[in-house]
Amino acid sequence: MDLFEKCSQFKRHIDIEAAGYMPYFRPISENNGPMVKMEGHDVIMAGTNNYLGLSLDPRVKEAALQATRLFGTACSGSRYINGTLDLHNQLEAALAGFTGREAALIFSTGFQTNQGAIVPLISESDYLVSDAENHNSIIQGSLIVKGKHGPDRVKVYRHNDMAHLDEVLSSLPADSGKFIVFDGVFSMSGELVFLPELVAVAKKHGARTMLDDAHGFGVLGDHGRGTANHFGMDDEVDLLMGTFSKSFASQGGFLAGRREVIDYIKYGSPALQYSASMPPAQIASVLKSIEIMLQEPERMERLFHIQKSVREGLKALGFNVLDGQVPIVAVILADDVLTFSFWRELMNEGVFVNAVIHPAVPQGMQLLRLSFMSTTEDHHIDTILEKFEVVGKRLGVFKQDTAAGY
Ligand SMILES: Cc1ncc(COP(=O)(O)O)c(C=O)c1O
Repeated sequence: MDLFEKCSQFKRHIDIEAAGYMPYFRPISENNGPMVKMEGHDVIMAGTNNYLGLSLDPRVKEAALQATRLFGTACSGSRYINGTLDLHNQLEAALAGFTGREAALIFSTGFQTNQGAIVPLISESDYLVSDAENHNSIIQGSLIVKGKHGPDRVKVYRHNDMAHLDEVLSSLPADSGKFIVFDGVFSMSGELVFLPELVAVAKKHGARTMLDDAHGFGVLGDHGRGTANHFGMDDEVDLLMGTFSKSFASQGGFLAGRREVIDYIKYGSPALQYSASMPPAQIASVLKSIEIMLQEPERMERLFHIQKSVREGLKALGFNVLDGQVPIVAVILADDVLTFSFWRELMNEGVFVNAVIHPAVPQGMQLLRLSFMSTTEDHHIDTILEKFEVVGKRLGVFKQDTAAGY
C-alpha cells in the first residue's frame, strides 16, 4: 500500500471542521491579553499559558526589540558552534540564581528540553521511570530511550500513585541507575505532584529525580520559584525543568541543577547540539520577565484569586470541576461530542477555552481546560461564569438536569 494512503483516508478533521466544531488551530487576529479577536469577534481568552500576562507587557516587548536591534532576529546556528551569545550565558546565570542551583542550561523549546535531558542521562544500564500522565515531550523522550536501549528501560507508574512508584522501583535491580521524571503541575488537570511522598520513595531506592515545572514557575512558590519551592523542597529534586512559553512570556526551556550534571547534558545532548539556539528577542524577554516576577509578586496573588473565583463559581453552578490551586481549571465533561459542542457554544458566546480529549487525557476525563492570565479582570470572570451557565443549561449538562449525571 502507498505510504500516503492513510493520509487520503484521514478525514475526521474535515468532518469536524465542516460541522463547525473544530476547537484546534483557531487563528487569533488580534491579541489584547484577556481579550482576543477570533472569527472576527472579540472573545475572552480563557485558555492561555501566558499566566503572568507578560507577553504583552511593554517592558518585555521593549527588551525583545532592543535585543533584536543589537543582535538581529536569529542566531543562525546551535549553541555548540556559532549560536552562543553573551545573552545565552547571562540568562543561564539568571536562571541558576532564580532557582538557587549551581548551573542552568537553556534549549530552544520546552519540548526539546525534556528530550534533551532524558536522552543523554539514560544509558544502557539505567531506567527511566515516568508518571502515566506526564507531558508528551517526556513520552517522546522515553520513546527515544526505548529505541536506543530497549523497551524495558522505560517504566510507567500510575498517575501520582506513589505506592505504585515504590512497587515499580522495587522491581528494578538495586544497583541500576533510576531516573524518575514527573510534571510538577499536570498540564491538563492542574493537579500537583505529591512531591514529599515522591521524594521519599526516590530516596528509598536511590533514584534521581527531574521535575518538569512548565506550569509551576511563575505560579507557585516564592516569587514564582515553582512547585519544589512551594513544597519547601528546593534542594530535594535533582533536576528542575522549565519552559519559557508560559509565565516567562517567550519560547524555549531550561534545566537547572548541579554543575557537573548540567555540563554532562550540555556536551551530550543531541536536542541542544543539533538545533539552532534561542533567538535574542526570546532570551531578552525571559530576562525581563524574571526581573518583573521578582518585583511584582502581586501578579501571582491575582492569579490565585482568579482561579479560586472561577473554580468556586463553576462548582456552585453544578459543574464537575477538579480541585486545585493553580490557574488551570478543568471542567470534566467525560464525552468527546459534549466537549466539542460545549466548546463551540462558548465560542459563540464569546469565550475561548481549550477542548481536551483522549489521548491528551485518559478516556472518560474529556474536559474543558480553562487557564488564566493575571491581567484577566473580575468582569471577565463574571462573563465566563454567566456563559458557562447559559451553555450548561442549553446542553443539559448540570447534574440535576441529566438523567445519567456525569
Ligand atoms: C508540562 C509541559 N512540559 C513541557 C512542555 C513543552 O514546552 P514548550 O511548549 O515550551 O515546548 C509543555 C508545553 O505545553 C508542558 O505543558
